Amino acid sequence: MMKISFVLNGAAVSGEVEPRTSLADFIREDQRLTGTHVGCEHGVCGACTVLIDGRPMRSCIMLAVSAEGRDVRTVEGYEGDETMAAIRRCFTECHALQCGFCTPGMLATAYDIVKRLPRADRRRIRSELDGNLCRCTGYLGIIDAIERSLDRTHGADRLSRKETP
Ligand code: FES
Ligand code: FES
Repeated sequence: MMKISFVLNGAAVSGEVEPRTSLADFIREDQRLTGTHVGCEHGVCGACTVLIDGRPMRSCIMLAVSAEGRDVRTVEGYEGDETMAAIRRCFTECHALQCGFCTPGMLATAYDIVKRLPRADRRRIRSELDGNLCRCTGYLGIIDAIERSLDRTHGADRLSRKETP
């Protein structure tokens, strides 16, 4: 067993894990945060996507020991976050979920897009989402929701604005 400690949703957590334990299993089974979903368990579907130091990563193919000292944010960790609140509203308005299994991972990727790519158009949104599969195939609603989130967060004229150097 190996000792680990890192920050999970703003709070320090620690535990003992087998070296082979995935971060997804540690989050779900040890920390009881079951909002992170596990689908394929080999890095293809993106359902397990969480933010690690602010970047979306697949927690099923990351070892829990690799999270040592890092900042991990799951779908449960956005209390009071205005950007995520806006994204969630847009997902609801655009009917961007059906069964909801992919949604925690989609929200993590959407959050990254809205924060990092204020000028993303629909084509860019599609390409950024290529690591997240929706088995209900509700992609149009998801793309609509992310586009609306970008418009609301950065202004609907964001595409016509010049990049600031
Ligand atoms: S469960 Fe991690 S990518 Fe599918
Ligand atoms: S809403 Fe069902 S998997 Fe995406």
